[in-house]
Amino acid sequence: MKIDAYERFFLILTGITLVIFFGAIGVSAMASAVSLSDPAGRVDPTNFADTPFENPGVRELAPGKYEVVMVAQAWQFTPNEIRVPVGSEVMFRVTSRDVIHGFEIAGVPLNMMVIPGHISAASTTFSTAGEYLIICHEYCGVGHQGMFAKIIVE
Ligand code: CUA
Repeated sequence: MKIDAYERFFLILTGITLVIFFGAIGVSAMASAVSLSDPAGRVDPTNFADTPFENPGVRELAPGKYEVVMVAQAWQFTPNEIRVPVGSEVMFRVTSRDVIHGFEIAGVPLNMMVIPGHISAASTTFSTAGEYLIICHEYCGVGHQGMFAKIIVE
């Protein structure tokens, strides 16, 4: 098959550009330690009976290790305020009762989507004391901008 010299040039250029762009994505994901959270299970959003989401809250799993079970719904997180000691490793397990919400902890590399029927889970360590804001970053209706919760690390 005959390919015109210009066409060949732009095909090669496009290929090189793609390799550079995918390489940049890979390098930046590794440099900023991006990791995708594992699918942590499913739950019926209409019935939390006999699941951890029946009684959301903070549980101590071991010294310095905590689990936070949270329910997102328009337009609040339950629980709304969490207290953990400084240096704690905290595993968040979050689900939604209604629509898709977001779960981002400002200043901490933890950012998830919260999907009804799915359990989103990820953990982080709070090595600095202070107040951390959890914000919903998926548009979820007229009250979206007021959907937040607080983590107090003391
Ligand atoms: Cu929930 Cu936006």
